[in-house]
Amino acid sequence: MFIQVITGPNLNMLGKREPGIYGSETLDSIIGRCKTLAAELDCKLEAFQSNHEGALVDKIQECAAIKCDGILINPAAYGHTSIAMRDALLTVGIPFVEVHLSNIHAREEFRRRSMISDLAAGIVLGFGAESYLIGLRGLVEKLRRA
Ligand code: DQA
Repeated sequence: MFIQVITGPNLNMLGKREPGIYGSETLDSIIGRCKTLAAELDCKLEAFQSNHEGALVDKIQECAAIKCDGILINPAAYGHTSIAMRDALLTVGIPFVEVHLSNIHAREEFRRRSMISDLAAGIVLGFGAESYLIGLRGLVEKLRRA
């Protein structure tokens, strides 16, 4: 089973960025923990981060070509705005889990809307870096059952 992790803008700054909200762990460390868990779950996992909406759309499209079974995605701020990312996820039709480090419903009003949540196989938010690991477990479990 092959899982692609996709993370959006400003998540490359984790560790330095608003640690009171997002924690002190770097993205490299979170991805490292996802890779360890993926190996335990007998999965291959690759990760991609970009600050650019088009690059994220390209990566989602590429997921179909590289025969990825599932996507774990933190769309970051583009999740609140990007119809293009929504359309790309609809186009490839690959099951995905949406994750957020913070509880987007307990913050500013504009963060409550997600352009992709209704398409997701599952959503995990508010557990900090653990959101990724919980989301990965849930995604793999759901794919195995399907
Ligand atoms: C985030 C929440 C978004 O609202 C924000 O724009 C981010 C990170 C999270 O993981 O909590 O960049 O997706």
